[in-house]
Amino acid sequence: MPIRKQYNNDFSKIIIKWYNANKRDLPWRNTKDPYLIWLSEIILQQTRVDQGLPYYLAFAKKFPRVKKLATASEDKVLKLWQGLGYYSRARNLHTTAKQITQHHNEKFPADYNELLKLKGIGSYTAAAIASLAFELPHAVVDGNVYRLLSRYFGIKEATDSTEGKKKFSKLANQLIDKKNPGTFNQAVMEFGAIQCKPVNPDCNVCPLQNPCYAFSEKQVSKLPVKSKKIAVKSRYFNYLVIHYKNSIYLNKRTANDIWKGLYGFPLIETKNKIDETEILSSAELKTILEKNKFHVRAVSKYYKHILSHQQLNARFIEIEITKPLLNKSLVKAKLNQLEKYALPRLVERYISER
Ligand code: ADE
Repeated sequence: MPIRKQYNNDFSKIIIKWYNANKRDLPWRNTKDPYLIWLSEIILQQTRVDQGLPYYLAFAKKFPRVKKLATASEDKVLKLWQGLGYYSRARNLHTTAKQITQHHNEKFPADYNELLKLKGIGSYTAAAIASLAFELPHAVVDGNVYRLLSRYFGIKEATDSTEGKKKFSKLANQLIDKKNPGTFNQAVMEFGAIQCKPVNPDCNVCPLQNPCYAFSEKQVSKLPVKSKKIAVKSRYFNYLVIHYKNSIYLNKRTANDIWKGLYGFPLIETKNKIDETEILSSAELKTILEKNKFHVRAVSKYYKHILSHQQLNARFIEIEITKPLLNKSLVKAKLNQLEKYALPRLVERYISER
């Protein structure tokens, strides 16, 4: 799409001028180290800056170079990631750190297509590293950029459609300041985050107000357009908190499902809410308890936990047994040592409230 001249007038100059006057001082903006830039971008995917910042500082301190991250255990990496969610990001982070250390001489490639080959790096992250670390002219397109461009240029294609994604990416790559791609990219993201906010942006102080399509056509709250409604699946988790003397049993999740690599309690999952007596008389429970005699100490209320595509309803059944379990895939952990393990927030919440 050729950009109408009136809308392209000094777009990048205005944005960069605004950025220099209004930017937040964030640690990953004071470095050109591709490793630290990559780290910040992985942490900031699906995460707000205020939530991601302490994690970035903790990772950068513990793993100042890619080799340090590569040689850490996955348990350590997941433990440090605990609470941030979308744990596949942490597992991919670890995989890519090992790849860079073993096969790239500890250096991130200064090439968009090479970056794309790395695990967990898609078009957004490849463009961010290429531009912010290496000043290569690849435009980033994240939620902030979709919002700004759709409003300013009046683009009504859905941002989650293939066509829409192509159109926004093409436009951003036409607009990018080829002499300052890193600053341009930071500036459009920051402008979208702070000035062209999702709800109630203050258009009266916006340097792009004239000629902004959404402002003049009163479409600010209508743009950007998203087509898909996310389907949310309900799941019921019946956690078994099995006590033997001063210990309980933890289970490391290994399936390709949420929380892979994290620890939890042994679990009986059901599609629907079922009565606890059904759980307690089930064959699954007998198998987990290895036919032990057991005594039910308590059954918790339901804890609701919302993820992007799932609603989890978890209840915790406290059970005492008289002989230790033999199952080698379970970890026997002392009650006062649970903080050593990477646990989902839901499980942590229960432990802290019980
Ligand atoms: N969100 C994603 N990347 C970011 C960055 N580099 N600065 C601020 N917010 C971001």
